Amino acid sequence: MVKLTINGRQITAEEGATVLNAARENNIYIPTLCNNEAIAPYGACRMCLVDIKTTRGRQRLVTSCIYQVEEGLNVQTHSERVLQNRRMLLELLLARCPDSKTIQDMAREAGVNGKRLVEQTDNHLCILCANCARTCDEVVGVAAISLARRGVERKMTTPFDEDFSEACIGCGSCVYSCPTGAITMVDNDGTRLVKWPHNRMEFKMRKCTVCGQYWAPEKQIEYIAKISGTPLSQYDICPDCRD
Ligand code: SF4
Ligand code: FES
Repeated sequence: MVKLTINGRQITAEEGATVLNAARENNIYIPTLCNNEAIAPYGACRMCLVDIKTTRGRQRLVTSCIYQVEEGLNVQTHSERVLQNRRMLLELLLARCPDSKTIQDMAREAGVNGKRLVEQTDNHLCILCANCARTCDEVVGVAAISLARRGVERKMTTPFDEDFSEACIGCGSCVYSCPTGAITMVDNDGTRLVKWPHNRMEFKMRKCTVCGQYWAPEKQIEYIAKISGTPLSQYDICPDCRD
């Protein structure tokens, strides 16, 4: 175990734990946006910044979702330097995604009221954290979407920027991993519609031969059958009717 101090409170944490997880284990709040336990820490949003001072006297800001606990580490989650940086980050995010309720709430909580920066209005709530693409790649194993282009043109998109991705199976994992609700998914009358910030795609769904409910996209079922080596006919019945 490692002993460290967060906000003047001495705590212990597992070796290899991140400062964020150590804080959470001890009910110490650090705001986050891109942190998601299903995928590897990436440090995209920098909302989880904390002030650290090592035993050698080195003081700096680090992203707590990546930085690991050290013996004797002194952490401040709400120092003036942290709050200033967090406010600046939120001003940038607010300018990028002025309509995002998540960002608006976090900005209000941090005391960011006015908008000093020019708003971009075509970003559809996307903060470019890449959670969706990383979930698609790391968890589903499909890599159907990715970040493309540079600078102000950077965006989350499909290959060739089309309303189509050969690899996408329509599972919706990206929807659940997006911290700002920038991706939506609606199932209607045998069709699933997934809308990403700049693209959309429709999927035909499979109907359960017992209850008649549409329960999963055909492409997702084909993918599962392929990687598990099971026959497609095994998926004629939905999970609810299987027992
Ligand atoms: S769509 Fe959501 S998860 Fe994907 S990069 Fe944008 S904000 Fe992040
Ligand atoms: S939560 Fe740590 S960088 Fe986003």
